[in-house]
Amino acid sequence: MNAKLRQKKFLITFLGIILLSLFSCKQEVTKEKAKNLTVSEGFKNPVGFYNPKPTFSWQLPVSENIESQSAYQIVVASSKDLLPNNADLWDSKKQKTSHSTFIKYQGAQLQSRQKVFWQVRYWNQDKNASLWSDVNHFELGLLKNSDWKAKWTGLDTAKDSIKGVRKFLMHRPQYLRKGFELNSEVEKARLYITSKGVFDVHLNGKDVSEDILTPGWTPYNHRIETLTYDVTDLLVSGKNAIAVELASGWHSGRISRGKAVYKNFASPKVLCQLEITLKDGSKKTIISDETWKGTTNGPIRLASLYDGEVYDANLEIPNWNTATFEDSSWQNTAIEPIADSVKLEPKRHTTVKQMAVLEDVTIVSTTKSSAIFDLKQNMVGVPKVSVPMKKGDTLTIRFSEMLLSDNTFYTKNYRSAKSTDYYIAAKDGVIEYTPKFTFHGFQFVELSGFDASVKPSVSWVKGVVHHSNFDKNGTFTSSHDKLNQLQSNITWGLRDNLLDIPTDCPQRDERLGWTGDAQVISPTAMYNFKMHAFWTAWLQSMRETQSEHDNGLVPFIIPDVLQNNRASSGWGDACVIIPWDIYNTTGDKRVLEENFEMAKKWVGYYQSKSNNYIPTIHSFRDWLQPYPTKGGKMGNRGDTPCSFVNTAYFAHSAHLVSKIAGVLGYVDDEKKYKNLYKEIALAFENKFFDKNGKYQNKKQTQTSYLLAIYFDLLKPETKVKAQKHLLETIKNADNHLGTGFLGTPILPKVLDDMGEIELMYTILFKETYPSWFYSINQGATTMWERWNSFSKEGGYNPQSMNSLNHYAYGAVGQWMYERIAGLSALEPGYKKIKIAPIPNQPLTSAEASVNTPYGKASSSWKIENDVFYLEATIPPNTTAEIHFPEILKSKKQEIKTVSAGTYQFQIKLESNE
Ligand code: BGC
Repeated sequence: MNAKLRQKKFLITFLGIILLSLFSCKQEVTKEKAKNLTVSEGFKNPVGFYNPKPTFSWQLPVSENIESQSAYQIVVASSKDLLPNNADLWDSKKQKTSHSTFIKYQGAQLQSRQKVFWQVRYWNQDKNASLWSDVNHFELGLLKNSDWKAKWTGLDTAKDSIKGVRKFLMHRPQYLRKGFELNSEVEKARLYITSKGVFDVHLNGKDVSEDILTPGWTPYNHRIETLTYDVTDLLVSGKNAIAVELASGWHSGRISRGKAVYKNFASPKVLCQLEITLKDGSKKTIISDETWKGTTNGPIRLASLYDGEVYDANLEIPNWNTATFEDSSWQNTAIEPIADSVKLEPKRHTTVKQMAVLEDVTIVSTTKSSAIFDLKQNMVGVPKVSVPMKKGDTLTIRFSEMLLSDNTFYTKNYRSAKSTDYYIAAKDGVIEYTPKFTFHGFQFVELSGFDASVKPSVSWVKGVVHHSNFDKNGTFTSSHDKLNQLQSNITWGLRDNLLDIPTDCPQRDERLGWTGDAQVISPTAMYNFKMHAFWTAWLQSMRETQSEHDNGLVPFIIPDVLQNNRASSGWGDACVIIPWDIYNTTGDKRVLEENFEMAKKWVGYYQSKSNNYIPTIHSFRDWLQPYPTKGGKMGNRGDTPCSFVNTAYFAHSAHLVSKIAGVLGYVDDEKKYKNLYKEIALAFENKFFDKNGKYQNKKQTQTSYLLAIYFDLLKPETKVKAQKHLLETIKNADNHLGTGFLGTPILPKVLDDMGEIELMYTILFKETYPSWFYSINQGATTMWERWNSFSKEGGYNPQSMNSLNHYAYGAVGQWMYERIAGLSALEPGYKKIKIAPIPNQPLTSAEASVNTPYGKASSSWKIENDVFYLEATIPPNTTAEIHFPEILKSKKQEIKTVSAGTYQFQIKLESNE
């Protein structure tokens, strides 16, 4: 459809607006209580909570009589019985404010293990008090190293000297246990536990939790996270046993190509403290120490995150984790004291869990001894296999993201990651196996070594999806199948790369916390998933890592296993950009407070490496820009030069630091960094642009203009001219995008600000390379690392750095929510919402919803029989601006301000012909 026709469709007249507000007729005064009470970054009644200085948030119920809050009161007590009238820890008293999120606790100092109860009431817009909310609670974990009496315990597995890929030391997984007796029933029991390595813990033969790969990945030289479990129901009067499976994980396993960072891959160890209160009033504590027994002769023979797991069922040890087991023949364990220098702190975000199981499987091909299964979705996790085997045979389980043209596996892009599991059968018959201490990125599974007399069945393989356990936060859908597929690919790309930390990719010998990838995707990630705690936890790791560098350097990856003392513009800036994004999404100022010093130091790093405001640091630049001038690995960096990207990001980070200082009330810093930003911007314009707003370089790139415009680095008159040059670069690309990691997320925002909606739709809906739909046309079910990772005609990109599961290009997802569906935060945390959809061909409808800190907000539009329908839901205690689509450029855009409620509008479209 040509542009003129498209326009015709949208010449509209506002014939009438039907407004259905919930608040048209108020009924009697409500008593409805506040709901969805959470502490800090969205925790509901946590056990083993990390923060003795929490914040409190709640939501007002959706109701006819509740539009907003005029006051609140929070009461906090050491026992439920004291609430609401005798709060012994804190009574906020009635506070006249509409704030209902992230209210700081200001009561008595809280201690490790303390269980705290709280409730809240609010007054609505008419000053009517609600009933008190239900009583919520949180229980603190062990906050200080000195709370731990336990010792790091384990077997010396380094001495076995097993060498794996690239001669990396491999540790045999350990089975550790301790029997103990209790002479009374149990009143209450808490298990505090962590490991150097990854663990799975059992009490009396039962799983303590469904957590996976705990404790997760932090900079272990600074901090190891600890878990707390309520195990009251798992203990009995009489004989008990605690048992731990322990493997290398990130701590002691092969990670990246880097050198050994964590004490030369020292043997994994467990640290656990089981604190029991008995019904007779006495207390007992079981700790990990030298009285524990261990063996490496268990069924899991080897386990590596990159390379897979080897399981020999012949070595299963029946009942090893129960109280009746006799462990006298097992080895004694060695202990290691707790070091003061490594902080032990409760995990500050949710653990990895099984989040879905893919069961819709087809068989692609079979041979006499092998079969390939298709899970129809590129996923991350482990397989669950039920396969007939013969005793003594080895089942080999291989993985692949996509197939080669002859239906064989494409594994070149796993690089050195073996990503293969093995299962050795102990008997004839159907075996069931799910690997425990590894994960794979795959869509296809190949089995070989099964009982060849049985015909392979689709029931043999399921895909168990693993990622950090956060809730879905938003939805986006439209009338266009490929756009919906893009949304699906974006959300799968996120699920697949949010396994305890944000990773670049989940399948090859990398899977690292690349900062640049994270900074471009974080807004889209937060639209789709509730990730407040996930990001703030990773930012703590970033701060700890930066503290190793006096000059403020933030390394390429967090945790930094590369240890190469290098930083990149566009990557290290994650330390400024992500806190700012989180603040805007949640309204939580604490994330700014926590990270302000880090952000300033990072800007200081640029400053220390600059000549006349042009930094000379390294940069990955506009990584993986299409059609680079240079080929091969250097081509990966694209054509926007290093000094350009450095200066642009230096200015942008300085600008954001100024804005953050403004929010925090640091007036001097606000001014200082604003001036710095302006000086850098001036130097930037003088160096890189001429008077006609043209970028002074033979190779014109879209990203050079995008960065200059979006970061506001040009004088207004230069900017207007630069915008024209940007349009030229796009025209020269036949209206295709020409951007890599850094340019892609801002392309839609810049074109949108310029009013070039039509053009952005054209780019977004392009089917040919390079475009978002191109990978979909080639069969993608996730976002790819490269715009041309694969094509049906040409096959796979020849470079082995070719992940089919990299989230960066999914950053367009933010614009899909904000502008296609039209739902965004106008003020931090959605206190004020903007509904501003931009309908355009080929769409006839789009809708998005987001669980804001105040409740669900949504925007949904459709065009039917020349009528434009818009429905918007605005949660209590927020207001919204509804911007009606500016379809006729000459028509002044109409804006309505509304409060909480659900509104429906109908507007007749008229033809101009
Ligand atoms: C990673 C990226 C990362 C890049 C830095 C790659 O190996 O997979 O996503 O940002 O290196 O250039």
